[in-house]
Amino acid sequence: MELNKKKRVLTGSRPSGTVHLGNYLGPFREIIAMQKDFEVFFFLADLHAFDVLPSKEELRERSYTLTATMLAAGLDPKHNFLYAQSSVPQTTELMWYLSCIAPFGMLTRAVAFKDAQAKNIDINAGIFSYPVLMAADILLYDPDVIPVGKDQSQHVEIARDLAARFNNHFGSLLKIPDLLVREDVGLLPGTDGTKMSSSKGNVIPVFATDKEWKKTIMGIVTDSKGLDDSKNPDTCTIFKLYSTIAKGDQIAQMREDYVKGQGYGYGHAKLALLDAVKEHFSAMRDSYFDWLKRKGDLDDVLKLGSIRARELAEKKLALIQDACGFIGRSLF
Ligand code: TRP
Repeated sequence: MELNKKKRVLTGSRPSGTVHLGNYLGPFREIIAMQKDFEVFFFLADLHAFDVLPSKEELRERSYTLTATMLAAGLDPKHNFLYAQSSVPQTTELMWYLSCIAPFGMLTRAVAFKDAQAKNIDINAGIFSYPVLMAADILLYDPDVIPVGKDQSQHVEIARDLAARFNNHFGSLLKIPDLLVREDVGLLPGTDGTKMSSSKGNVIPVFATDKEWKKTIMGIVTDSKGLDDSKNPDTCTIFKLYSTIAKGDQIAQMREDYVKGQGYGYGHAKLALLDAVKEHFSAMRDSYFDWLKRKGDLDDVLKLGSIRARELAEKKLALIQDACGFIGRSLF
C-alpha cells in the first residue's frame, strides 16, 4: 500500500459560467497553489448548481468550462481528485443519513436558505438541504481542511456540526475538518469600480482574446484627473487590479508614477494593466481553449477523478452503513 503523508484539502465550486479575475484570484488560484502541500479534492458542485434548475445545455457547458479552467490553471488530475459531484452517487446517499440528524431549525438558519428567502425565490427542498449536501461532499473523504469564501463558511460549520452529531450517535467515524476562510476576495473592483461580479457585467474575463481584454481594460472607469495631475493609487481601480497580478517592483513603479503625475495618465496605467493580464494569463487562456476543443479528453479526466473518488466514497459508505446498523452493503 502506498503511504500518502500529504494532508487532504477539499473544495468545490458550482459550475456557473465565465471565470473572471475576481473568482480566479480567490478560490481557483488558492486551491491550485495548495496542491504543492496537499492532496487536493476539487469537484464541480453540479448538484448544488441544479437547485436553480439551469437548462440542460447550460449545465453541461458550464461543467466543461469549469473542468477546463482547473486544468488550464494547472491542477494535476493524476495526483489529485478532480471530479463531478454528480459522478459520485455515494454523495447523495450520505446526504440522506446526514439529513436524518440535521435539525430543522439549524437548516432554517443556513445562509443559502435565508438568502433565497430574502430574494423571494421559490424555495425547493434542494435549497433547504443545501448545507446537508455540502456536508456529504466533505465528510465522505475525511479531508483535513476546507477552504471557502466567507459566504460559505457557515455551511462548513454546519458540516462540522453534523459530523460531531453523527459521531455522538454512532461512534467517531467522521473526521471533523478545519475551516479555512478566505479573506477580502470580495473586494476586487470591477471595471465600474464596484465589486467585480458576473451579474453586474463589470468583470475582467480570464479567458478572452487580446482584443477583448483590451476593450474591457480600456473601459475601466476612473476619475477625471489629467495627465499631469498627481493621482491617488489607493482609490483607483486600475491600480488595485494591477496590484493583484503585477510584480512587486512594477507595482511600486506604478504607485510612484501615479503620485508624480507629470505625463503619466490613466491611459498609461491601463496599458500596463493590459500587459500584466497578458503576461499572467495568455498561456493559461490558450490551454483553456485547447482543452475545450477536446471534450473527450475532458471526459477522460473527469472519469478518472470519478473512479478514484468513488473508490474512497464506497469504502466510507460501507463503514457508515455498518456503524448505523444498516444491512445494506454488508450483504456483498
Ligand atoms: N456551496 C459552495 C459554493 O457555492 C460549493 C461547494 C459545494 C463546496 N460543496 C462544497 C465548497 C463542499 C466546499 C466544500 O461555492
